Amino acid sequence: MTTDQATLANYRDVRVTHTHLQWQINWAEQLIAGWATLSVRPQTASAAAAVDKVVLDTSFLDIQHVDVDGKQVKWEKAERIEAMGEALTVRLDEPMTDEFKITIKYSTTKNCTALGWLTKEQTKGGKHPYLYSQSQAIHARSLLPCQDTPSIKSTYSASVKSTLPVLLSALRISPPASDPLPTSGQEIEYTYDQPVPIPSYLIAIASGNLAYRAFPPVPGRKWTAGVWTEPEAMEEAYWEFSEDIGRYIATAEDLTTPYEWGVYDTLVLPPSFPYGGMENTCLTFVTPVLIAHDRSLTDVCAHEIAHSWTGNLIGCASWNHFWLNEGWTTYLERMILNDMHGPAERDLSYIIGRKQLRAALAEMPPKYQKLVIDYERYADPDDGFSTVPYDKGSNFLLHIERTVGGLDVFRPYIKAYIQKFAGNVVTTDEWRAHLYDFFSKAENGEALVKKLDEIKWDEWLHGSGSDLPVDIKYDETLAQQCYDLANRWKAASEKDEYSSFSPEDIKDMSASQKIVFLESLKSEKKPLPVSTLKALDKVYNLDASTNGEIRLRWYGLALPAGTEYAKSAAAWVIDQGRMKMCRTVYRLLYAVAPELARDTFKAHAAFYHPIARKMIAKDLKLE
Ligand SMILES: *[C@@H]1O[C@H](CO)[C@@H](O)[C@H](O)[C@H]1NC(C)=O
Ligand SMILES: [Zn+2]
Repeated sequence: MTTDQATLANYRDVRVTHTHLQWQINWAEQLIAGWATLSVRPQTASAAAAVDKVVLDTSFLDIQHVDVDGKQVKWEKAERIEAMGEALTVRLDEPMTDEFKITIKYSTTKNCTALGWLTKEQTKGGKHPYLYSQSQAIHARSLLPCQDTPSIKSTYSASVKSTLPVLLSALRISPPASDPLPTSGQEIEYTYDQPVPIPSYLIAIASGNLAYRAFPPVPGRKWTAGVWTEPEAMEEAYWEFSEDIGRYIATAEDLTTPYEWGVYDTLVLPPSFPYGGMENTCLTFVTPVLIAHDRSLTDVCAHEIAHSWTGNLIGCASWNHFWLNEGWTTYLERMILNDMHGPAERDLSYIIGRKQLRAALAEMPPKYQKLVIDYERYADPDDGFSTVPYDKGSNFLLHIERTVGGLDVFRPYIKAYIQKFAGNVVTTDEWRAHLYDFFSKAENGEALVKKLDEIKWDEWLHGSGSDLPVDIKYDETLAQQCYDLANRWKAASEKDEYSSFSPEDIKDMSASQKIVFLESLKSEKKPLPVSTLKALDKVYNLDASTNGEIRLRWYGLALPAGTEYAKSAAAWVIDQGRMKMCRTVYRLLYAVAPELARDTFKAHAAFYHPIARKMIAKDLKLE
């Protein structure tokens, strides 16, 4: 078993096996209050080593009462350790060897880092408030007392009272899943059940004026899929996702194993949601940035779907091994693209990811450039979050795929990996041991093991540096025309002469190709002159692009050149809660117009989710 440095819980002595939540959403006070009942199983084998205390993770919770099997017990909350929170020690009256139940009466507080509370003005409909959680990495402890480590998985059930529809990362029991949710404004009790054990960071809640629409069923498949959003956004959300999501799930099943979670719903959140997507079980959360009105950004949905296997079914044993979640999931996301749209699409995604990886490696300190991160005690895993685990990780798997002889050889291994570890957590060493075991048993096992031995394991897993340990080539079929157009622009920039360009140049390009084009124009050494930027914007209307990914690349080009587009970047970033967008643009803005960056952030800090707010404040040196 691995050690998780980011928990204060005594999870080696006892394990939570089931969590029951009884909550009430208090909209006026912006808090959740109620009870958490944890079924706890001692891990010690003998009565002599019976446990006499349970230490749980909490963060900014107001704990009011604790009992064990119905009897009140002593408890104490330790002093706060930053990022880790306050350890809650529950004293057992008598040492325990069998399973018991701890019930804790508590409420969240204003300081809760997991919950985003929106006023009605911050929603699309403007009539009702809205609430949503984001618990990864270690924010679940500010939502409930728990063993907040990915190494512990528990089933969970919940009953939540609210005056607005409630969604949880679980199966709805009541009102029955077949019924639409009432929005009468009366308080109603919603009950949910998650029968598959999950880590605490996948416990999720959303409440607000939410409506549902089912996607067309995929013949021969057992799960259902649909979309949740505010009614005002339903038409566009349904249009954006209804074609792709079912096909992605079916393709992912064919690559791996049948989908185990019964329901795959997608909740489109308000713009302050800090991530592209969060793979909460049964209910993926996504940013509204994905609504591009051309279905061009649904690859994020493929990513979240892939997490149903890598991340949610097989979890990383600690945040040190987070790359096993994200590297594998990015690898599978691109395999879904491969199987639906061909290898050129797959590789275009690798090409875009590779650029993001270079940028991340240039920014992150060496300790966070590694695939396996050796977090210091009490380090905040949010600080180590970057595209490194995603893109270094997926490139590593691609490298292994090619090393053993390509996809035909690798596909059976993908299934075998899922089958081997489904329901469990895994460390990098355990993953590698299984990889060797699998290929050693293949027909030409000895030769395959020799090939695996040639991999620079240490460099890949524990090395830092500004690029991958091995140069990896991609299929450039779809990228070449982007490079060609970028080269024409670079030549035109030299002469400051742009009359040969027209909107036709990019008319037939996919959004991904436009991204590759813009990124190819970027030079680390010398920003484009303002006259070139103005010409680019005039021809392609980039400063008004409604595609967030394109807009992000545009500011990546425009801001390093000076303050010409600083104001428009500042105006854009106030509605962008997704950290990929807002953190990047704030940082770029800070480099050219620090006052504008800080003033903009200070004026709109309340818009951002607590996680994003904290990270931007750090980026702008406000903390
Ligand atoms: C909220 O956080 C601040 C700063 O850490 C602290 O002083 C305050 O006591 C906290 N409030 C609650 C209710 O935990
Ligand atoms: Zn992911």
